[in-house]
Amino acid sequence: MTADRVRTLFNRIAPVYDQLNTSLSLGQHRVWKQMAVKWSGAATGDHCLDVCCGSGDLALLLADCVGLQGHVIGIDFAAAQLAIAQQRAQARYPQPSITWQEGDALALPFPANHFDAATMGYGLRNVTDIPRSLRELQRVLKPGAKAAILDFHRPSNAMIRTLQQWYLEAIVVPAAQQFDLTDEYAYIAPSLDRFPTGSEQVMLARQAGFAAATHYPIAGGTMGVLVVMKG
Ligand SMILES: C[S@@+](CC[C@H](N)C(=O)[O-])C[C@H]1O[C@@H](n2cnc3c(N)ncnc32)[C@H](O)[C@@H]1O
Repeated sequence: MTADRVRTLFNRIAPVYDQLNTSLSLGQHRVWKQMAVKWSGAATGDHCLDVCCGSGDLALLLADCVGLQGHVIGIDFAAAQLAIAQQRAQARYPQPSITWQEGDALALPFPANHFDAATMGYGLRNVTDIPRSLRELQRVLKPGAKAAILDFHRPSNAMIRTLQQWYLEAIVVPAAQQFDLTDEYAYIAPSLDRFPTGSEQVMLARQAGFAAATHYPIAGGTMGVLVVMKG
């Protein structure tokens, strides 16, 4: 899929994206996102980045973690997702310390060695150039800083993999159908088929210049968090 089509897709699903995520994961995506924030090493007062922030879940959790002394930038190229993220942040009191920025994960508009920690949730599978996206993330992190990258994963257990494929086809796509978004959600299964496995992600992260990389399978291996550290 081209970057333009990815952007159009995420702009179109923006109004129902949160609701569908929550019902299809039975609320579990919030727990996985909290794990990613913890593994990013973000701490009070830090300056953090959430790449492919979408409607802002991870950026909002990062903001809770860094507090008002810290700051979070949520970046995404889909304006409709950012508008929802902004509304969600504005509905909070006190206002979290977040800037929402339209921009490309493949050409991050930040200087090198800039952020204390970063997250990326369900973004790596959607960028058109994974190695470049990892190189960009590596560039903008400070030496010693970590990033946690959460996404779907193909479980090594054949039975769980079959269950995952059935779930995506028989539950996720029909659920999206009620919002007239069948095609938009049918893309998840093929994108997962193409997505590098945990060990391949570790290799790509090392090639992108990260000093350390570990992939943690979670949710029975149907999801995973790649934790990377800049040397
Ligand atoms: C599946 S959503 C994930 C949103 C959010 N991180 C979450 O976990 O709910 C993927 C997001 O990646 C964004 N995206 C994909 N490629 C991008 C790129 N090259 N630059 C910026 N954003 C991109 C899409 O616009 C979309 O909002």
